[in-house]
Amino acid sequence: MLKNSRRVIHLFLLLTFYIGVVSCNKDNTTGLQKKIDEYNQSDVGLKDYYTPEDYFYLGVAIPLSFIDNQKKTNLMKRHFNSITAENEMKWSSLQLTEGTFTYTNADKIVAFAEANGIKVRGHCLCWHNQVPSWIFKDGQATASKELVLQRLRTHITTIMTHFKGKVYAWDVVNEAIDDGSSVYRNSQWYAICGEDYIIEAFRAAREADPDAGLFYNDYTAIDPTKRDKIYDLLVKLKAEDLVDGIGLQGHWNIGYPSGLLISDAFNKYRSLGIELQITELDVSVYTSNTDPETTYTDAIEEKQSAAYSRFFNEFRTFKDDITGVTFWGLADDYTWLDNFPVRGRKNYPLLFDVNLDPKPAYFEIIDF
Ligand code: GLA
Repeated sequence: MLKNSRRVIHLFLLLTFYIGVVSCNKDNTTGLQKKIDEYNQSDVGLKDYYTPEDYFYLGVAIPLSFIDNQKKTNLMKRHFNSITAENEMKWSSLQLTEGTFTYTNADKIVAFAEANGIKVRGHCLCWHNQVPSWIFKDGQATASKELVLQRLRTHITTIMTHFKGKVYAWDVVNEAIDDGSSVYRNSQWYAICGEDYIIEAFRAAREADPDAGLFYNDYTAIDPTKRDKIYDLLVKLKAEDLVDGIGLQGHWNIGYPSGLLISDAFNKYRSLGIELQITELDVSVYTSNTDPETTYTDAIEEKQSAAYSRFFNEFRTFKDDITGVTFWGLADDYTWLDNFPVRGRKNYPLLFDVNLDPKPAYFEIIDF
């Protein structure tokens, strides 16, 4: 008898718990659906919540193919007032063969932006990746420092002259700082030219288009050790008035970085009196290279919203120093993180889902 009534109570408790969970989930879903319905009935976008006057430009990095996809162009136009070409302005896209400059694809992105009143961020003039090997060769031999610097100058001058008045800011040098104990990355640029290639790149850029904002761009720029090395480089560049800002890429994840790491870095860079831009923001759902592939569960979605919320809190706090926040991708249907650092591991790092609908993270960052 006692056993039976215990069983009944047990069952009752289980049932209550179950009903609670179901209705709570239903509430969340309905809540989100309601927000999406309202969103679909309006045309207000990110750039209206974060105006350039009060906050910063909102940007998105896209491949050329997006400009022929109406659903995507609508989404871009609604939310963003700055565009970065994902690959089309890199060295190997613009000057694969020495002396032959190919602007067709980059020009199409610029024309799309111009037609829609969107600014263009140039990315990037000098990097160790996506560069043709001829830069570092002289016949069969390694090119001299003079030859490499001359090629660098020619590239930067030609490209920036072509895009003068159309590209408002450039990542002049990308990822030149070492992740380990050295100061500079041991790239071919560095092996041949030492740090002079960085300074020369900025000099050429300043001369080619004095009106363009010049940025040094890097990842993990909030990591204290790397941050301090970047800072020292910026001091050198600033002494010659060669740099206008630091681009912090912002390839972050649902657990990293903390608000404190971000604000410490922002404070350090801002003390130089330069602009801060987040240039390649995405928030991976994986916190390590070895995390197994996951489905995008409610729990992960919630963690991601919390991370986005934390990041944008910091961005708003530093709104007087930050002039741009660019996402590295438009929606979860297309992201480089599906193949990096693990090939074929699906990721969901952006504000819009695979169907281009806004995710909870979107509603989180516009709610302030
Ligand atoms: C770096 C570069 C970008 C892009 C990403 C990966 O962050 O700066 O241009 O190549 O890697 O997509």
